[in-house]
Amino acid sequence: MSAVGRALDILRRGGVVAIPTETVYGLAADADNPAAVARVFAIKGRPRDHPLIVHVASAGSLDAWGRTTPAALTLAEACWPGPLTMILQRTPRVIDAVTGGRDTVGLRVPAHPLTAELLAEFGGGLAAPSANRFGAVSPTTAAHVVADLDDDVDFVLDGGPCAVGVESTIVDCTVDPAQILRSGAITAEQVTALLGSVSDTAGPARAPGMLASHYAPRATVLLASTPGEADAMAAGLDHAAVIDGTDDLTRYARHLYAWLRAADDSGAQVIVAVLPPPAGLGHALRDRLTKAATPPGPPTVRPAP
Ligand code: TXA
Ligand code: MG
Repeated sequence: MSAVGRALDILRRGGVVAIPTETVYGLAADADNPAAVARVFAIKGRPRDHPLIVHVASAGSLDAWGRTTPAALTLAEACWPGPLTMILQRTPRVIDAVTGGRDTVGLRVPAHPLTAELLAEFGGGLAAPSANRFGAVSPTTAAHVVADLDDDVDFVLDGGPCAVGVESTIVDCTVDPAQILRSGAITAEQVTALLGSVSDTAGPARAPGMLASHYAPRATVLLASTPGEADAMAAGLDHAAVIDGTDDLTRYARHLYAWLRAADDSGAQVIVAVLPPPAGLGHALRDRLTKAATPPGPPTVRPAP
């Protein structure tokens, strides 16, 4: 049986499969199966009220899950398959376990050939958060998933390293103008050009699960504005690693999480990361780095290493 065939079989029986996407690996379960979705929350150690994204095969499935709006159709046409999630009012099909009881749902058509094939064969939706333990760095290779989740997941569909490397842009289409809740590779500039106007005053109350501290490696993360500043900071510290991809932001995003993991694995106690300027993909990188640099505090507890 092919790897996609095996994944399909497990998902149809209510199992949990790690799937590759262009952003990060997802921890997927049948979005119509409450027990399977409950297992995803249990494996991640994620609070029940943090909603999951439902991944679907194409924009043709939108109506089944969400109430479309003109902005949603514009975004779907321009950005899917791709690294964009839209929030819509949910249809009765969407179960409470997926949305944490909210009346909205996050929907995305991922761009990865194996997962596209899987979704087309599966027919339904796959509810999937990133395939890491709650609060930790997202996985961008199958090996990262195995290192984090090990035997808890029924199968890892290995699709190679993720091309984008940071989580999808989330756009709330239930408000007018639409609002960017999380920045990603589809940039605020692109969304604004497509929709005319956008607000980006994201807040934790609007997007449960978007906490100040997130995406955190074990090492303490410090932020620098320039490579020179980073080197100077690291020079005065023991066991410090410098992370800088500011010369090529596409490459920086692609490797950011692998670099954070590698620094942890090398025994670094401090990671000094260089922030890119706040434009284009720089917004997403600054967001993830700032969250990685924020120490966890109540009510978030960083899981033990
Ligand atoms: O790129 C991605 O989006 C990856 C891949 C696997 O698709 N998924 C991902 O999922 O990053 P997760 O669960 O780690 O992050 C999803 C975010 C959460 O912060 C959640 O609060 C938000 O999406 N979200 C999901 N449904 C929502 C809703 N109905 N309203 C507001 N926020 C929502
Ligand atoms: Mg996540």
